[in-house]
Amino acid sequence: MRVRPRRNRKNQLIRNMVEETLLRPTNLIYPLFLLEGNLGKQAITSLPGIFRMNLNDLCQEVEASIAVGVSSFVLFPAVPEKYKDKTATYSVQADNFYLEAVRQLKVKFPEIVLMSDVAMDPYSSDGHDGYVEDGNILNDRTLPILGNMAVAQAQAGFDIIGPSDMMDGRVGFIRDALDDKGFENTSIMAYTAKYASAFYGPFREALDSAPKGGDKKTYQMNPANKREALIEATLDEAEGADFLMVKPALCYMDVIQSLKTHSNLPIAAYNVSGEYAMLMAACEKGWLDYELAMPEMLLSLKRAGADVILTYFAKDFGRLYNQG
Ligand code: PBG
Repeated sequence: MRVRPRRNRKNQLIRNMVEETLLRPTNLIYPLFLLEGNLGKQAITSLPGIFRMNLNDLCQEVEASIAVGVSSFVLFPAVPEKYKDKTATYSVQADNFYLEAVRQLKVKFPEIVLMSDVAMDPYSSDGHDGYVEDGNILNDRTLPILGNMAVAQAQAGFDIIGPSDMMDGRVGFIRDALDDKGFENTSIMAYTAKYASAFYGPFREALDSAPKGGDKKTYQMNPANKREALIEATLDEAEGADFLMVKPALCYMDVIQSLKTHSNLPIAAYNVSGEYAMLMAACEKGWLDYELAMPEMLLSLKRAGADVILTYFAKDFGRLYNQG
């Protein structure tokens, strides 16, 4: 036998030398759930270890994350029912607790990267990402609402705007709205290939944001489709997106790879709540070894082509990374 691949695996130094993929804490974005006011930390049953937090508690989590090398965060507001209405008006109130929190975070931690969520669902009495009329999600009626939301978020200090709504034309609409107001340096991470997935369940529990009627299949993509993701990618890129995202991540690694080949933009993958829940449940049962399985899962997403990974494991990955 002349060819013996095992020679390149014979000791740790050689294995390190030929390692193809490297995942660092700086590649990660850590999702955080924000509570209004001074409410205490609230556990989320289906997301063990993840909490809804008031701004003070959230600042502590940010500090602990920075200490292990994770300095990028995506913020989601847990909006009380009383603020929700048909047009998501609370989302653009300049003094709402979400925008206020960003202003304060930016003062306290000027060096961090903060990403927003643009979609109507956390603020909508219908629980849909777009404007609902007679059971239909009206695309073009939704765009100005998203544009105003994005501008309010840029004004508050977000570095990256994250449209997660899947309306047609929203990246271009948001880009124009931002540029119009002088926010040409505010980035957009487009949720490009966002699938109508069962793996968002725990997130909807966290934000109490499940649709009140129907499902999201007229705007989120069919899990059966991959080529369609390329249509979305071409549009988002032409409309001015700075990053293209695939969501969920684990069941969609072929889509991540496909976008990576198709586009020269950085590719992000959202390792969603249900994927976190799945691994945590297996580890709690003792069926998987957390400290081995978790980094393997994240590394695999990077290998598939994700430059950036949004994950609830971010802080813990940072901790393990620093322990070597
Ligand atoms: C909604 C939104 C969702 C997630 C991020 N933004 C859920 C949905 O589309 O219903 C899911 C994230 C996760 O499951 O971790 N705009």
